[in-house]
Amino acid sequence: MPAPSLDSLVSLCKRRGFIFPGSEIYGGLANTWDYGPLGAELKNRVKRLWWETFIHKRADMVGLDSSILMNQKVWEASGHVTNFADPLVECRNCHGRFRGDKLLEPRIGVEAAAILKLDQVQKMLLAEKIACPNCGAKDWTEAKKFNMMFKTHQGVLEDEAALVYLRPETAQGIFVNFKNIVDTMRMRLPFGVGQIGKAFRNEITPGNFTFRTREFEQMEIEYFFDPERTEWKKLFEEWKKMSWSFMTEMIGIDAKNLRLRDHEKDELSHYSRGTTDIEYQFPFGWGELAAAVAYRTDFDLSQHEKVSGQDMNYTDPDDPGRKFIPHVMEPSYGTDRIVLAALLDAYTEEKLENSETRVVMKLKPEIAPVDVAILPLSKKENLINKAQELYKKVVQETDLVVDFDVTGSIGKRYRRQDEIGTPKCITVDFGTIGEDEKQGAKDTVTIRDRDSLKQERVQLGELSDKLRRIC
Ligand code: GAP
Repeated sequence: MPAPSLDSLVSLCKRRGFIFPGSEIYGGLANTWDYGPLGAELKNRVKRLWWETFIHKRADMVGLDSSILMNQKVWEASGHVTNFADPLVECRNCHGRFRGDKLLEPRIGVEAAAILKLDQVQKMLLAEKIACPNCGAKDWTEAKKFNMMFKTHQGVLEDEAALVYLRPETAQGIFVNFKNIVDTMRMRLPFGVGQIGKAFRNEITPGNFTFRTREFEQMEIEYFFDPERTEWKKLFEEWKKMSWSFMTEMIGIDAKNLRLRDHEKDELSHYSRGTTDIEYQFPFGWGELAAAVAYRTDFDLSQHEKVSGQDMNYTDPDDPGRKFIPHVMEPSYGTDRIVLAALLDAYTEEKLENSETRVVMKLKPEIAPVDVAILPLSKKENLINKAQELYKKVVQETDLVVDFDVTGSIGKRYRRQDEIGTPKCITVDFGTIGEDEKQGAKDTVTIRDRDSLKQERVQLGELSDKLRRIC
């Protein structure tokens, strides 16, 4: 297991500026979270890695940034108005409202709970004697479909015509721009369009820190292909592997805390012919980290053609008489869940030789919020001046994120940097300024490695080059 409990991570995140409770000065707003300075940096790095891996480094992929608010017909066409619903049950005693399938999961398992029909949920809750988490009563109403889309109105009139939804997935922005992208970007099948952005779902039971929230961020790709030229099962397997290696090799999550899970037939979303999730072993059990891939067929483009009346066909450039609606593979990742899993996975408590315990976030250096910390050994003016000079030099000469820390003893500062996962600390000591040879030669500094705790003495003139190589 990575972090011993979610609470220890929540507390570290608050203490060290990764994630704060939302609207805290007003007593909070349930299940909303704000990314602090370090959390924002970490999340941006995750998004940048995703963009570099899937958009910049591939000739068959382009990016998009579409609107959150879209014509309400988009969601009629996509099936979300009718189908994007969870089974809502109410406790007859305290009137608490819950997601019936989630109440059943611990008893009957995720797979079995996911495939229950609406009219089976109440029966199963009663048969399994599931108690209300609020009051303990075991008296449940029948399950109702609860649509998870947030509604609002655009403009000054609050009538049906002005109704808009906050998008529950970023994917539809890609489908509605399919034609624009084909017409402007000279893309030939197979090709993919990726985008990163906020999505909103009025979840019945949010919780477990940032795992299930009502506002979250997605990184989604729609990968369009010709079903006559590309075998979908082969492509499906390829995307599973790419998603797996993104989580393990790019984000650095330990493969032993991950597993792939195929959706049962009855569990599939209304648009999918096959879905495989990547699950992470969270402290509260295995949970969906991302949809490694879903095969959405030509469902969405066909629906948009039907409802909008616009031609969504692709013309085969090798056979211009052949027009067809492409099929699509969709790897869909939740950025917040990846950040959460990366933090949990990195959380390590270690016994040191002096029998102290240190908490160290062994984040992959590529996603650590700070690359390097510069620490003057003491607050003596000439040491601080030298360290500040060095800070400016490293910031100017490299692209690294550099922290400058003078508060507290050097031991405390090392602990602080360990807790935020800074891979390298540079200590400026009396050796550096030529006042104590025992600490080191003049114009040299110590680089300390976060994980091995090994220290290395480096010439100031070589420092930026060295840091560029090792960070
Ligand atoms: N376009 C397909 C789609 O949206 P999904 O499985 O519903 O598929 C994809 O969502 C990913 O979005 C999930 O694997 C998860 O990482 C993230 N996600 C979904 N609902 C979420 C929520 N309420 N809070 C945080 N992340 C969520």
